[in-house]
Amino acid sequence: RVTPVILAGGSGTRLWPVSRRNFPKQFVPFSGEHTLFQQAALRFAPSDSQLFAPPVVVTADAFRFVVGEQLAGVGLSPTAILVEPMPRNTAPAVVAAALHLCAEDPDTLMLIAPSDHAIADAAAFHAAILRGMSAAESGQIVTFGICPDRPETGYGYLQLAHSPGAGGGPVPLAGFIEKPDAATAAALLAGGRHLWNAGLFMARADTFVAAFAAHAPECLNAVRAALLRGRADLGFLRLDADSFAAAPAISVDYAVMEHARNLVAVPFDGGWSDLGDWDAVWRAAGRGSTDGVVKRGPVTQIDCQNSLLHASDAGQVLVGIGLQDMIAVATPDAILVAPKARAQDVRRAVEVLKFTE
Ligand code: GDD
Ligand code: MG
Repeated sequence: RVTPVILAGGSGTRLWPVSRRNFPKQFVPFSGEHTLFQQAALRFAPSDSQLFAPPVVVTADAFRFVVGEQLAGVGLSPTAILVEPMPRNTAPAVVAAALHLCAEDPDTLMLIAPSDHAIADAAAFHAAILRGMSAAESGQIVTFGICPDRPETGYGYLQLAHSPGAGGGPVPLAGFIEKPDAATAAALLAGGRHLWNAGLFMARADTFVAAFAAHAPECLNAVRAALLRGRADLGFLRLDADSFAAAPAISVDYAVMEHARNLVAVPFDGGWSDLGDWDAVWRAAGRGSTDGVVKRGPVTQIDCQNSLLHASDAGQVLVGIGLQDMIAVATPDAILVAPKARAQDVRRAVEVLKFTE
């Protein structure tokens, strides 16, 4: 069985004003009734529980009760909830989960999973996991590769050592390039030998620990100490603050994946989308609709095209007339209006507005 490790400690500033410092995007429903975090957890709870053990969740101190409540809300109970005393990005979170599971059984297969994704076809996703299983069991780190369709600079790129075979089995990686600049991204797309990194990683717990020992030993040591000195509290496992503070704030992609040599990619096409910004939310929900208008909440639109209108369910009404390629988001205390092409710049607005964030 695979133990999903759900990373739910990020801040999601580009989805302001719905995503807030004290209540970031993963705990918000963007489509359907469940939040992104609940959708991530439910993705690993198929009716046959042969494939997945209950999840480990790694999150920030401020979100620990939300995590507990949202899991209970969909009838799930976790293997463990690890609590980070301060944000240190994803590398410390990953190795904390790996060390925790390693103590039980070093051979445990872990699947690192972000909580800010939509995957339309869960069955295709499970099939991809099964295709990668034996590579993970034999000590490889399995990544999941999405066919790119634009020179996105917000993702990692997987350089395949050779073209994928017809069966979609694992392909060794010749390189991993995290968040290239625009020119590099355009070249990688044109070259046709790269896939996007879906942000999901599968390996044995001891494989992750060994990768950190080789490429990020200071991170490994700080987190090991934080676990040793950590304490159980109301069903949470709190990492020790002084030790954890010594861990570098770095993503697992930069700390380990760019350097590891035992990477393989399983090609995967299951309607994956990263819900990193409003353009991505529109893209994920807009597939198939004729006018390209995505609506949520008490929203009315007249003659709009390729736009997103999102109102929180707080009673106010949002009306768009003649919008083209626009984002309009209304919440009780903040409103965002921007061209869809400027979705990345919402991060800048949050910088300016720190006090209302
Ligand atoms: N526990 C914890 N602690 N989780 C965190 C932290 C943290 O400090 N920081 C971020 N996360 C969570 C986020 O909530 C998200 O679910 C996941 O970790 C990934 O972090 P992001 O910050 O969203 O990463 P990214 O989108 O910039 O890049 C990653 O995902 C891309 C695909 O969506 C990389 O893996 C890229 O290579 C990849 O292409
Ligand atoms: Mg992300």
